[in-house]
Amino acid sequence: MNTLAIELNEVLRETPVFRLLSDFGKRIYFPHGIISQSAEAKKAAVKADGTIGMAYSDGKPLILPAIKRYLPDFEPSEIVAYAPTAGNEKARELWKKMLLRKNPSLDADYISLPVVTSGVTAGISCTADIFLNSGQTILSAAPAWDNYHLIFEDRRGGVMRGIEFFDDDGRFDIQKIRKAIMEEARKGSVRIILNFPNNPTGYSPSISEAHALVECISEAAESGADVMVICDDAYFGFFYEDDIYKESIFSLLSSLHKRVLAIKTDGPTKEDYCWGFRLAMVTIGSKGLRTEHFNALTTKFMGAIRSSVSCANTLAQSLFLRACDDDTTAAAQAVFFDILKDRYNAVKQFTQAHKNHPRLSPMPFNSGYFMCLRCNGVDAGWLRRELLEKHGIGVIAFGGEYIRVAFSSIEKELIPAVFTAIYDTALSAPA
Ligand SMILES: Cc1ncc(COP(=O)(O)O)c(C=O)c1O
Repeated sequence: MNTLAIELNEVLRETPVFRLLSDFGKRIYFPHGIISQSAEAKKAAVKADGTIGMAYSDGKPLILPAIKRYLPDFEPSEIVAYAPTAGNEKARELWKKMLLRKNPSLDADYISLPVVTSGVTAGISCTADIFLNSGQTILSAAPAWDNYHLIFEDRRGGVMRGIEFFDDDGRFDIQKIRKAIMEEARKGSVRIILNFPNNPTGYSPSISEAHALVECISEAAESGADVMVICDDAYFGFFYEDDIYKESIFSLLSSLHKRVLAIKTDGPTKEDYCWGFRLAMVTIGSKGLRTEHFNALTTKFMGAIRSSVSCANTLAQSLFLRACDDDTTAAAQAVFFDILKDRYNAVKQFTQAHKNHPRLSPMPFNSGYFMCLRCNGVDAGWLRRELLEKHGIGVIAFGGEYIRVAFSSIEKELIPAVFTAIYDTALSAPA
């Protein structure tokens, strides 16, 4: 093993992080290679910097006029230069400040500086690289975002154990979740991904449900297990009902217990309506970690990033910083939020008015971009195809059992007609 990896592992050895690391997580390090030598040169090479593979003239990166023309307010370095491996320092500091503002009970002492990743997907994938070995189990809500299967199972060789978060009456089934967590805890460690607001259901826990969930994690840690919780907060902030727990559950988990390691993956992609920017953050939180541990684990994340995509997109980070600084942003965010909330309310109104539909029952939803219909006696794949071919309506079928509708993408005025078509088509399904 590389001596730098051994050094990082020594720093982490007495913490749950070390015990939770995958084989890759143990091996990975950030080399004293081109990136770190170039960072040194940036400060001290006053005469000539021949370290980095970019092309400079007059102290600025060369940039094609055809690119610069569209971005007159930006310096070439904000557009075409490589970003630091862990991301633009200002963007990382700003995101941390925003996390503390949006999550008032988050304790700054127990969290790292966020690391920039190429979308929430890359944040989850790097976390899986570092903490999930082939054959190891990771718990998740079922149904789950399909990319979890691709990342945890097909890419990492892990085993996803799905827990249906709701009982037959549509109530948050904390006993079922607790049982699964404690069964894993008895094996010595728990890995779990929590995604609120959820994809595909559109559910976020109430205040009491969030606390009950955290109590389950606490019980697992108290029993002696190391617990790694990924908080996939891709849709953070899209909360439409008053009784929802409106912070990330990361707030509670990062200061919960020395054996609990919480990894928050979130970012502007969904929250700030810039999906294609591929810009997100990973923040580490644990009561059991001090600065040197956060630094060592951050260095491992940098190794995972450097060895996969090298660094995230520079222009996206520069644009994000400008948007945060812009006077119009807060007002536009409020307008966009209201658009989504109006669509949510239109869906809620329809589903409440059609509660007794014999073949479709909505799963609990109160947040996010989506809602999910459970199909009873109708094949979800058939329903999807019928809607597409006969009505020109696109929805997602999950397995044979669920239809997911992204109400975020459907104009409010169209929602009654779209849902009428879905409900009527389900009635016409072959028995
Ligand atoms: C639950 C969940 N997590 C993560 C992501 C990925 O987000 P990003 O576009 O930032 O990679 C998605 C996107 O669809 C998602 O639904």
